Amino acid sequence: MTSPIRRIAICTGGGDAPGLNAVIRAVVTAAANRGWETVGIRDGFSGILSPGHYPGGGVVRLSREQVRGIAHLGGTILGTTNKGNPFSFPVKLPDGTTGAVDRSGEILDYFAREGIDALVSVGGDGSLTIANELHHRGLRVVGVPKTIDNDLDKTFTTFGFDSAVSFATECLDRLHSTAQSHQRVMVVEVMGRYAGWIALHAGIAGGAHAILVPEIAFDIDKVAAKVRQRDAEGRLHSLVVVAEGALPHDGHRALVAAAGIGHAERLGGAGEQVAHELAQRTGKDTRLVVLGHLLRGGSPTAFDRLAALRFGTAAVRALDAGLSGVMVALADSNVNYVRLEAVAGRMKAVPLDCDTLQTGRDLGVSFGD
Ligand code: F6P
Repeated sequence: MTSPIRRIAICTGGGDAPGLNAVIRAVVTAAANRGWETVGIRDGFSGILSPGHYPGGGVVRLSREQVRGIAHLGGTILGTTNKGNPFSFPVKLPDGTTGAVDRSGEILDYFAREGIDALVSVGGDGSLTIANELHHRGLRVVGVPKTIDNDLDKTFTTFGFDSAVSFATECLDRLHSTAQSHQRVMVVEVMGRYAGWIALHAGIAGGAHAILVPEIAFDIDKVAAKVRQRDAEGRLHSLVVVAEGALPHDGHRALVAAAGIGHAERLGGAGEQVAHELAQRTGKDTRLVVLGHLLRGGSPTAFDRLAALRFGTAAVRALDAGLSGVMVALADSNVNYVRLEAVAGRMKAVPLDCDTLQTGRDLGVSFGD
């Protein structure tokens, strides 16, 4: 028998994604309709762990009034960070290096002290892994799957993905005409970490001629052959979409920075390598466009907005029903709940037998294999 809920907290962690504010609005409103109060933790858990950074308070009360009219806004009104894992919180050591300490106990103490009965944690793999650990330490937690990368397991989609794909597709639409006018190769690098969902979906929707995803090691000679073949057929421009995690069959993933304490490695540079090598091999004028954080900014699409509102209200219903240690997910056309255990630390890659990949192959797209 779980105790009744009077107060809940919400936090947004990891990279931002369009739809975060819609989740916040949904949680606060659905909670208020049950007579519960909601507080928002600033910047992941930093609002609790580094309260001195927040003159207005690291944990703020969220009234219905404060979340009115925010569902369509990009970003998160609470702020976010991918550096504040309470189980491995970075600290400066006396020798000047950085170490990590477990500060999760401070989160549990804070919840107990302030009479906060449960947490809605909105985030990707990192945040949901933290949520799962907090659940095991006795906190009532429900997770909401967020990421433009769509790489979370056990849910058909995450919110943020559709907005990223829609924007990338619009960019590809625009690049066709300029590539055609100049008879150029346009290489477009998109985010997605170790999964090729954004590259695949936007690449096919946007009519790319080659798409390089992490799941299929590519041979640059095969991509160059595709460009040359198009030239021979009189189609003198080519669009090549490169996922930031794309893997050359004879090389390494392009990195901007290695992983360190409290932060993952940063991918980047794959597009530059591909553009350079294609220019060398084909002799064609080649340009690179890196979409980067543009994919995370701006308003959520209607699909993401609705998904975020559905996820947020479903998280509150889960708490109301006494659930904990679960993530709201989209299965077929309905939301359901899956154990956080089944999601934490498990990446959803593009399945090699999925029909979207087959669609690309049937349309003549090169995957560099
Ligand atoms: O996970 C979302 C994401 O945008 C990835 O696609 C990308 O690799 C990473 O975050 C970039 O992180 P940062 O904002 O720290 O540069």
